[in-house]
Amino acid sequence: MIAIDFHRMKRIKIFLSTLLLVLLYTAAAFSQPNAQAKCMISVKVDKLMATIQPTMWGIFFEDINMGADGGIYAELVKNRSFEFYKPLTGWGVQPADVPYVPFQKQFGEGAVIIVNRQEKNTANPRFVRITAKNASKGSLGLTNEGFDGIGVRKDVPYNFSFMYHQQAVGLKLYVELVDSTGKFLGGTSIVPSEIGEKWHNQSASFVATGTESKARMSIWFEGNGIIDLDMISLFPGDTWKNRAGGMRSDLVQLLADLKPGFVRFPGGCIVEGRELSTRYQWKKTIGPVEERQLIVNRWNTEIPNRPAPDYFQTFGLGFFEYFQLAEDIGAEPLPILNCGMACQFNTAEVAPVEQLEPYVQDALDLIEFANGDVNTKWGAVRAKLGHPSPFHLKMIGVGNENWGPQYVERLKIFQKAIKEKYPSIKIIASSGAMYEGKMFDYLTAELKKIKPEFIDEHYYNRREWFLKNATRYDSYDRSGSKIFAGEYAAQSDRVVSTENKNNLGTAIAEAAFLTGLERNADVVNMASYAPLFARVDGWQWKPDLIWFDNLHAYGTPNYYVQKLFSNNKGTHLVPALSNGKPLTGQDSLYASAVIDKKTSELIIKIVNSASVERQICIKLEGAKKIKSTALMSVLTGRSLEQENSIDFPDAVKPVDQSTEVKKEEINITLKPNSLTVVSAGVN
Ligand code: AHR
Repeated sequence: MIAIDFHRMKRIKIFLSTLLLVLLYTAAAFSQPNAQAKCMISVKVDKLMATIQPTMWGIFFEDINMGADGGIYAELVKNRSFEFYKPLTGWGVQPADVPYVPFQKQFGEGAVIIVNRQEKNTANPRFVRITAKNASKGSLGLTNEGFDGIGVRKDVPYNFSFMYHQQAVGLKLYVELVDSTGKFLGGTSIVPSEIGEKWHNQSASFVATGTESKARMSIWFEGNGIIDLDMISLFPGDTWKNRAGGMRSDLVQLLADLKPGFVRFPGGCIVEGRELSTRYQWKKTIGPVEERQLIVNRWNTEIPNRPAPDYFQTFGLGFFEYFQLAEDIGAEPLPILNCGMACQFNTAEVAPVEQLEPYVQDALDLIEFANGDVNTKWGAVRAKLGHPSPFHLKMIGVGNENWGPQYVERLKIFQKAIKEKYPSIKIIASSGAMYEGKMFDYLTAELKKIKPEFIDEHYYNRREWFLKNATRYDSYDRSGSKIFAGEYAAQSDRVVSTENKNNLGTAIAEAAFLTGLERNADVVNMASYAPLFARVDGWQWKPDLIWFDNLHAYGTPNYYVQKLFSNNKGTHLVPALSNGKPLTGQDSLYASAVIDKKTSELIIKIVNSASVERQICIKLEGAKKIKSTALMSVLTGRSLEQENSIDFPDAVKPVDQSTEVKKEEINITLKPNSLTVVSAGVN
């Protein structure tokens, strides 16, 4: 009896432990739907495929959302040369509490007038004339509002400058920065001492005594006299590389941190202009700033519910500065030029083919400006601007979002002229504004015959599109032009909606798409997110990579995706396969891998677009030696909707950690909605 019970008990025990094992296994299998006996991703470390071009991940710059004036261009005075349509836009005449009455009573009609010398000076026709009689500080002045205020930082030097013209010395100028309560934040006084017909430059510096993001600048006049003023300017002394009249260093630093392979400039639609007369003309953007002819920014009224009537292009940030910026941050310059066509969403004006010569000449001259010897006409201009050595321009874009037979006709003319004179310059052709459809197919077929080195494709679509299109280039023709993914951004709402957000959800969808670009690096040679910058209080288009106000700037989750790809670009593509196939969304996973021959690193990028964690195992095959610790950078957040902001700039930011490499395997937990970049030392 006892013996029988013992055997029965034993059988029950075996049955129960087997049941437990089965249950545990099933539970494990359910919690890890992809757990396999072998690793689910295998990376073949020794199978080098395409070379990753150094240009692979770059930046797209356009003066949209106050990206240049009021943005990276550090000028703090709005409408410094009185050339906006309303010449006193941005300016107030002081004292302002009872507009015009006090100073008119004291100084008479005409104490402050705008003079237009357009017959003599077409580039900078207007200036302001001040007539003062026994003026004293506080009785007659001009105040500038800046770009939604002037950002002032305590202890930073500020450089005030202006051009003037007077027949007699009689006035003293007081310049001061004040906050909204009138509190003094720094200033100085100047007595312009030159007289005669010539315009003179004068400048003075002072150190700010306080910090304020919405200060204004007043210039008070004291004494008797008439003085003409123009180019009234204020720059912080701590610009990028401390260049006078330079760029905001915090914004340039964010660009430099991306380590971009190229800088595309100056756009975007502003290349085309709403009409041909307001197209971007590079020759008008170089040389003394007072000679750079201002034009309206086409984005000023483009987006109906985000009007910006005071948005102009002063071109203080012009082509020389763009080339210099690219050089400073180690990127290839990539200028895009107008091809004789205005924006086809607006007027769609075209220059007649027989009058295309000046447009083509602009392209040829630009190449000489960038690369020519100092003895050439345009090389000498570059040298005179302070850069005798060439900028090593290698590629040029012909047209932005242009399409149709009109474009094909003009592109061919540009291509012939450029190749005849500069055979090694690579040409970037537009594929139009859409990445599919009738016009896209027509242009693709035509471009196959024209054979530009690169085709510029733009994709703005919802995040679902980006998740679905990681395979876009898997079956692309390998024998023709290479791809420049010149503008893209996942939209949380819809294209041109002002409701779009730069959130984790869009960033992760872009990361998934970028694994597809990287996996096709043999054909995709360049990519850039667009637009780049947006002012929190002055934007027209959303989403954007970097946001800023007068004193702060932050990268969006989308910025960190760009940074993770660009800072980990590697030198050669290697296969990262699951069941013999690339991961392009199976079980919401995406992956690509590169080797960096210079640092002997294997870099694997994995996107988990599911809202649950995933355990994965990566098998590293073909390495002679693998370091036992790998590094991981993980970008994720609380929810798909999470964003960064001025107050919380680091809410969504990559977090670094390390992980073990054991028996050529890496076992990691992928966070929900995440991009994980794993770097392992290999030989
Ligand atoms: O990036 C914003 C705009 O989108 C660009 O100016 C244009 O090229 C595209 O349509």
